[in-house]
Amino acid sequence: MAMLEFLIPVVREVGKFLLQRLGNVQSIQLKGHANLVTEMDRRSEEHLIRAIRARYPNHAILSEEAGALAGGSGQPEWILDPIDGTTNYVHGLPYFCVAVALRHGLQVQAGLIYHPYIDELYWAERGRGAFLNGRPLRVSATPRLEDALLATGFPSDLSRAPDTNVEHFLALMPKTRALRRLGSACLDLCNVAAGRLDGFWQPTMLIWDVAPGAIIIEEAGGEVTDFAGKAGAYEGNIAASNGKIHAALVNLLQRG
Ligand code: IPD
Ligand code: CA
Ligand code: CA
Repeated sequence: MAMLEFLIPVVREVGKFLLQRLGNVQSIQLKGHANLVTEMDRRSEEHLIRAIRARYPNHAILSEEAGALAGGSGQPEWILDPIDGTTNYVHGLPYFCVAVALRHGLQVQAGLIYHPYIDELYWAERGRGAFLNGRPLRVSATPRLEDALLATGFPSDLSRAPDTNVEHFLALMPKTRALRRLGSACLDLCNVAAGRLDGFWQPTMLIWDVAPGAIIIEEAGGEVTDFAGKAGAYEGNIAASNGKIHAALVNLLQRG
């Protein structure tokens, strides 16, 4: 918690501020076909960046809307998604969050995700476990893909996604209990860590959609890999699970 602690009141405050405008955002722009950004993404981002810069002026920051802000050489990097689930947010669907990860070199060291609508705060630090509102998290015990509830997502920018995920969706649907498309990858990963979902996959993911939740899953006893089953992947084609169904999931994704 040491590195993350100062950000907890900040993400709570940002979350409260976002709730005031849920479904009632004035300024909405398109970054691509159906890829939205709002004034609230930018305001949330400004708030997070200001807080991190005040505490760690030499750290680097990589944020979805602001891009890369350089830090001192060899310094840790904060990875930010100021609203994950912007489309839900714009439509007033209360499944969105504020997501932060901390990376040292290539290794993600910590993750913090806040779901303001139901006041759930998730965090993890490498080697120290994963927590939801202070309670330890554990992935589900579901042993078979046939009994698994999985979520997925579709890349927002289809122009940079040769894999639209439709084939994988069709391949997995009859092999699982049910599939969901909820609209916030970071929260989906938290729900895998909490044992409410047994797994998640999505092609062509960006680092801020993966890193915050991936470490929370790993620290809750689950697995995060690419579609070939290689660990340490925090962007691109991502498969995450409780570990027990992972081989079966990856096997289908490889063939899809
Ligand atoms: C999106 C959400 C969505 C996922 C997309 C992401 P955004 O993030 O996480 O669930 O399927 O790939 O881009 O744009 O709301 O931050
Ligand atoms: Ca996102
Ligand atoms: Ca976002």
